[in-house]
Amino acid sequence: MTDENKRRRGPATLGVHGVDPHPPAGAPVVPPIAQSATFYWASPSDGDLRYTRYGNNPTQLQLGRKLAALEGAEAAVALGSGMAATAMALLAAVESGDHVVASSRLYGATYALLADELPRRGVQTTFVDPDRGGWEEAMRESTRVVFVEIPTNPTLRVLDPCPVVSLARSRGAIVMCDATFASPVNFRALSTGIDVVIQSATKYLGGHSDLIAGSVAGPCDFIERVVHMAHLYGPALDPHTGYLLDRGIRTLEARIRRHNENALTVAQWFEGRPEAERTIYPGLASHPDHALARELFSGFGGMVGVVLGGGGEAADRFMRRLELAMAAPSLGGVETLVSQPRWTSHVGLTSEERERVGIPDGFVRFSVGVEDVEDLIADFEQALG
Ligand SMILES: Cc1ncc(COP(=O)(O)O)c(C=O)c1O
Repeated sequence: MTDENKRRRGPATLGVHGVDPHPPAGAPVVPPIAQSATFYWASPSDGDLRYTRYGNNPTQLQLGRKLAALEGAEAAVALGSGMAATAMALLAAVESGDHVVASSRLYGATYALLADELPRRGVQTTFVDPDRGGWEEAMRESTRVVFVEIPTNPTLRVLDPCPVVSLARSRGAIVMCDATFASPVNFRALSTGIDVVIQSATKYLGGHSDLIAGSVAGPCDFIERVVHMAHLYGPALDPHTGYLLDRGIRTLEARIRRHNENALTVAQWFEGRPEAERTIYPGLASHPDHALARELFSGFGGMVGVVLGGGGEAADRFMRRLELAMAAPSLGGVETLVSQPRWTSHVGLTSEERERVGIPDGFVRFSVGVEDVEDLIADFEQALG
């Protein structure tokens, strides 16, 4: 079978097998971890494989091929964190004097990187509130990148990438999308014309809350530049973490299907509860982007937002009473995690500012895991009690 045909296999198969050749007799079923910082290398005739920070350790390369296949990309690279992926991708795309147009609804550290850090390197960003629009007005002659997040944290809004992609194309800019909340199983971002897709692999790809990693997928020449940036700045993926990530990806599709199912059930349950003023889930007909989410995604994901009518106090009480779901700020693991954006991602805003961006006090964010959903609901019910 050709590599091209292998890449057309489904996400469950790609997650387990990747696209590497079938191993010969006697080969281990699980690719061995190349747990080595350096490799036998005497002179240039010994090839490229020299040092793990350079990004060509066999464990890193095997993972890169699997991630590329899952994203439907020419190439991909796995790095030391989701922020490493975002930062290296941006540094690969811009230089001093360049301009970025970005959605104002971004993960906090990504926002800070664009708003505070890149200006120190001569790169300015104009932020666009996707609800108000103004993408075209924000573009400049020097715009090289349009950066978006689909779906957004924690309000789970879904931006239509198509008009943004057409606009960027017509101005010679590329579109980068952080699709962490959806994962490559629910959202094949590149199939919409997005050029580069970023994942915090710490979340669904790893899937067990036990590693920190990130990935960038896109055209070969772009990924080569990302690898070069990582060579210089140094956020290489450690091979042992690479092994854990590969192991997580083997069950990605099965886990995501379960996350999708459980989250929908949890969202429907909260929607019928008097304590919940609002339940936010792209799979509910009440979600403002439900129709678009149906078009773009093959599943609505594991994240649910609930606004408790009792405000911040009710949310604090609910979190303290939980006996199964755990209060913790991350997401995408097999266990259900619950957090309040007012204490985590949006702690820097006032209560009124948060209200304006759709996150009133009382907003509880659920990363719904793969447990038996009846047990989760029983836990939520007693915690509301
Ligand atoms: C949407 C999104 N992008 C990027 C990141 C950063 O990922 P990491 O913590 O792996 O650096 C996060 C982390 O929470 C995230 O939620």
